[in-house]
Amino acid sequence: MAKMKLSLQDKIERKNLFSLMSSSSFDLIQENTREFMHLMTYYRCAMMEVETKLNVLNEEFSLIHDRNPINSIKSRLKDIPSIMEKLERRGLPHTMDAIENDLYDIAGIRVVCNFIEDVYSMADTLLKQDDIELFQIKDYIEQPKENGYRSLHLIISVPIFLENEKKYVKVEIQLRTIAMDCWATLDHQLRYKKDYIFTEEMSNELLECAKLSAELDAKMDALRNTVENQ
Ligand code: GTP
Ligand code: MG
Repeated sequence: MAKMKLSLQDKIERKNLFSLMSSSSFDLIQENTREFMHLMTYYRCAMMEVETKLNVLNEEFSLIHDRNPINSIKSRLKDIPSIMEKLERRGLPHTMDAIENDLYDIAGIRVVCNFIEDVYSMADTLLKQDDIELFQIKDYIEQPKENGYRSLHLIISVPIFLENEKKYVKVEIQLRTIAMDCWATLDHQLRYKKDYIFTEEMSNELLECAKLSAELDAKMDALRNTVENQ
């Protein structure tokens, strides 16, 4: 590949990149700095594409139904230590190929919806779009995790249009209600608190909270249904 001059933004990113790296990931990133930075840019572009699609759906829905289905959207790009940790955890080689082809959640979008119905209608309308390919779906609402975690997870491929090519990029979308997001956020804070032991009793309490939040969602959705069918 022809050598190109690095822009100031590239230089800043490169500096941040090196300061974040552990020794195990150093070689891989140092040998592929440009390629890595390009890949991360593609993921950022793909997230922008998907966010725009979701915002458009939210606007259109509110025109028709007089309310917004989406409460908030948060995007995040996986950082280098997390990428390396995941390669390690999955027993994958430390290669650019593994990063691009075997990790599906480098670009992540969390869509917090108001009602359960909104979660499914947003997912359905997004997946109906003819440029989006569904790669994987995990419905933890229909089948919650053992600890009570609920959300709808989609891995999609979305095209981004570059100067000379159309490139499909994977994005993980987690769709959930406000109640699901509340539970997941607090679960994460409690479970990963440093220097504290998370006992079995605490796990049971959290599971109980997850059941309460599922009840809340069901009641709220029934209310929504009643109001909208008046
Ligand atoms: P990861 O290696 O963590 O990505 O797991 P996975 O590839 O098997 O994917 P999974 O669909 O199970 O979960 C991916 C993401 O969902 C996590 O990174 C979290 O953001 C979220 N998640 C999954 N389980 C839980 C949970 O029990 N609690 C919370 N708070 N979040 C969860
Ligand atoms: Mg993940």
